[in-house]
Amino acid sequence: METPSLVDESRSRPLTPPTGQDLRSFVAAYEAAHPTEVVRVREPVSVEHDVMAVVLEYERRRRWPIVIFERVTGHDVPVICNVVASRRTLAFALGVPEAHLAAEYARRIKDHVKPVVVAEAPCAAHVVTGDAVDLEALPAPVYFPGDAGRYLTAGMLVARDPETGVETEGYHRFQIKGRNRMGVSLHSRRRMFEYARRAEARGQALPCAVVLGLHPLVSMGSLAYPPAGVGKFEVVGGLLGEPLAVAPCRTIDLHVPASAEIVIEGEILPGVREPEGPFGEFTGYFSRRSTEHVFVAKAIATRERPWFQSIGSGRAGDHITTLGLVREAEILNAVSRVVPNVAGVHVPLSGTSSFTAYVAIKQSRPGEAKHVIPIVLGVDHYLKLVIVVDDDVDVFDESDVLWAVATRMQADRDLVVISGSLGALLDPSADDRGLTAKLGIDATRAFGEPFAEKLVMPAERMAWAKSLVDRLTT
Ligand SMILES: Cc1cc2nc3c(=O)[nH]c(=O)nc-3n(C[C@H](O)[C@H](O)[C@H](O)COP(=O)(O)O)c2cc1C
Repeated sequence: METPSLVDESRSRPLTPPTGQDLRSFVAAYEAAHPTEVVRVREPVSVEHDVMAVVLEYERRRRWPIVIFERVTGHDVPVICNVVASRRTLAFALGVPEAHLAAEYARRIKDHVKPVVVAEAPCAAHVVTGDAVDLEALPAPVYFPGDAGRYLTAGMLVARDPETGVETEGYHRFQIKGRNRMGVSLHSRRRMFEYARRAEARGQALPCAVVLGLHPLVSMGSLAYPPAGVGKFEVVGGLLGEPLAVAPCRTIDLHVPASAEIVIEGEILPGVREPEGPFGEFTGYFSRRSTEHVFVAKAIATRERPWFQSIGSGRAGDHITTLGLVREAEILNAVSRVVPNVAGVHVPLSGTSSFTAYVAIKQSRPGEAKHVIPIVLGVDHYLKLVIVVDDDVDVFDESDVLWAVATRMQADRDLVVISGSLGALLDPSADDRGLTAKLGIDATRAFGEPFAEKLVMPAERMAWAKSLVDRLTT
């Protein structure tokens, strides 16, 4: 099905994508700005565990550089990981300081720019089809001992709604099962899950492509929550500030980002389920829960000398930092519509960037904090704990947030509990259907009522103390 309105036909068709929309130019620019933040590993590494072990060691040192493994034993394609691991990288992609990251992302995802089709796609420099397709030749790692096999973790799944034609994209874990077969889990139960369900209800396969090696803004756009009629590539266009260049696939009627490193074309089979997993998930646990869908590949297209992108699994920054940013921005946009003074939003790593949110507001009416709670919990079905604090509390300092809970919250007055709600299937404390209870904590002072005076040192004395201590410690 060709859906002309999905792309911008009014623009003359450029021959090639604009520079700056591909992973390579991003890495080059990032390295020029932060030379120590792109690390090249020239020693040979194995696809078994080595990539994940190096990511973990950097995280242990509180570092999140982009890492390029140039020599992967048994493969002639380099592996690149940690591209979206840090707030620094994401802020660089948006061209703003880290402190403005969520606000800028929240602003730009409201702009929707249709993609444009280019005539020549770098991602189609080499194309193999049919029996020549060999997924096992890709340097896909085994991340943790205990994973069911070799996984594509940076596979961006692209498909169109079988009913409306609206395109979507999202990361989904793929377990390699053979030369042309992969298991895939659609457990986030968002648009792709629904598209597969709609195709299956018609007895049809879902044509789709798995795209690897993308500019961070394509990743960041894929996690947004656009209205049902808006494709994710339009969100990416808003983030880029220009149309995303896309190119047609060879064997299916679908467009993919033209500057991707690797494109695997194929389909998700209707009515077929096969065991997939266990896999080390964002929760920090192995997960056996999976929707157990099956993807069959028809073609693989690559750039000249492609890079294979890997995303560290488990609670690695590469896996969860973007998830936190996107939720912060969506909460900011949702709460700002009804509460005039949102002072800060943090979706912390401690809650796997998925389950927990801290929201600071400057109250202007009684009852605002309790009003905020269901709005935040409704932004995304993964969110299950929200703590609302006053604007004098730093939401990025978790001990400050817990201090507010300790001193401003009364349990018989300030807790809001919702039982039996849609939750995350992979949350090990949710039931097998993914049902969860949700908790909101109002840790604000009652509006307009007297409250104990907070201890505060004047800023001018603190500035003096800072300069004194600086002098004492140099
Ligand atoms: C690195 C990474 C891996 C992910 N893996 C999966 C996955 O295996 N299955 C899944 O359903 N969602 C996964 N997600 C979440 C989806 O990609 C995300 O919810 C996406 O926005 C869904 O897109 P959709 O709205 O098109 O369904 C992952 C997210 C990230 C950042």
